[in-house]
Amino acid sequence: MIGRSNQAGDDDMGAAGAAWIAAGSEAELRRRQRLVVEADPDDIVVWWHDGRPRALRNVCIHESRLLSEGSLLGSRVVCPGHQWAFDLETGYCKERDRHQPTFATRLEDGQVFVNPTPDQPADRS
Ligand code: FES
Repeated sequence: MIGRSNQAGDDDMGAAGAAWIAAGSEAELRRRQRLVVEADPDDIVVWWHDGRPRALRNVCIHESRLLSEGSLLGSRVVCPGHQWAFDLETGYCKERDRHQPTFATRLEDGQVFVNPTPDQPADRS
């Protein structure tokens, strides 16, 4: 089972004014490798990679499969739908020249937080 969280963050506000969302503990994320965070308009999946959390929109920009059901291949998450592979840092899929939205994360006192304002918009076509 993939962990889920919709806990309200603390009073800290993200750069665009949205409150950070608590995704779960670092220990849980390390154990599960990924956690799904409820967000509007789309949920966010947080992956543990290379010693820190990385966050992408959970719904794939291609045909809406869930990246939380995908797998890691190096520093990229592979969508279970049609195997597009998105860089965890940038959301970029080099084979398709498309971006999956990414989100800022931070660790604080063993807890993982996500800023629900995307770093860049989706480029659906
Ligand atoms: S739905 Fe993700 S690659 Fe097609």
